Amino acid sequence: MAEPLLEVRDLKVHFPTDDGVVKAVDGTSFRLEPGETLGVVGESGSGKSVTFLTVMGLIDRKSARVEGEVIFDGRNLLALPEDEMRHVRGNKIGMVFQDPMTSLHPYYRVGSQIAEAIRTHRDVNKSDAQKQAIEMLRRVGMPRPEDRAKAYPHEFSGGMRQRAMIAMGLALNPSLLIADEPTTALDVTVQAQILDLIRRLQQEFNVGVVLITHDLGVVADVSKKVMVMYGGKAVEMGTRDEIFRQPLHPYTWGLLESIPTVDKRVERLVPIKGAPPSLINRPNGCSFHPRCPHRFEPCDQDIPELKDRGGGHPDACHLSIEDKRRLWDEREQQRARAAS
Ligand SMILES: Nc1ncnc2c1ncn2[C@@H]1O[C@H](COP(=O)(O)OP(=O)(O)OP(=O)(O)O)[C@@H](O)[C@H]1O
Ligand SMILES: [Mg+2]
Repeated sequence: MAEPLLEVRDLKVHFPTDDGVVKAVDGTSFRLEPGETLGVVGESGSGKSVTFLTVMGLIDRKSARVEGEVIFDGRNLLALPEDEMRHVRGNKIGMVFQDPMTSLHPYYRVGSQIAEAIRTHRDVNKSDAQKQAIEMLRRVGMPRPEDRAKAYPHEFSGGMRQRAMIAMGLALNPSLLIADEPTTALDVTVQAQILDLIRRLQQEFNVGVVLITHDLGVVADVSKKVMVMYGGKAVEMGTRDEIFRQPLHPYTWGLLESIPTVDKRVERLVPIKGAPPSLINRPNGCSFHPRCPHRFEPCDQDIPELKDRGGGHPDACHLSIEDKRRLWDEREQQRARAAS
């Protein structure tokens, strides 16, 4: 098998606080191949952002205990000194956040900011960097890029700002783009345009993309591979088809039933009952068991490992594969009945 672009091994990120240790990420492993898109889904607080902030070296190591390995380009990023990490960030790993204003400076023209980002990492003169910045703005679908490059961020709409952020994230031709809720703050039409753009750029630049979202509909649109997170752990991992057609984990079932886009016939949303687990006093056994309608005797005792349990892709649930298939079929039939 070819070298993966990114391989995360047993990552743990624990924050000691006055109330106890917050185990925000607690043993997560996954890999991403070059040019592949990974959708990362899970409820608020499941550890999506902390996982990828750690990958990017943006977690303050003074306030967090970080364990495990983040292998990128054959090196463990967790062991790199800060100056080398800064070089990786931007140069090899691009980032796009929910709020573009966290990365765009309000006082500088958008074109100059992208040009500066290019000049920080590449030996090019100002006017060439400016030309490259305009070209990037054009490639992300900015109308009249020469003029828009001279504008300030506040003169842009939310969607245009997000395009500018993506232009900045891709300006140095990174091999990995990490987008954390890139469309959450946008209205539905603009959201669709930005997702379209990410899909197109992913193919054009052959860049690996991590798309973090709490919205499975977004993942269904864009990602080839999906990782479902719950309580700081990956609980299921598979291709888009596997996750949407043969989901194996009851938490994934709950997520799928809480969105209307999976099955157009089903209009009714069923939110998952109960609250996410405490990350300080984690439940024994499977973190999802207090909310799981299918729990049985090992669930509050043994932590289920994430592995292929006969379902064709990895999941972390004690139920037998026969029970999983039967229960999911039953839930689907129930939904179809409720919809008709
Ligand atoms: N510096 C910190 N100190 C203590 N706890 C933290 C710190 N940073 C994050 N956490 C906690 O870690 C958990 C995971 O947070 P994270 O931001 O990764 O969630 P998320 O899955 O991205 O959620 P959302 O969908 O709301 O963005 C949360 O409970 C959060 O409060
Ligand atoms: Mg987040």
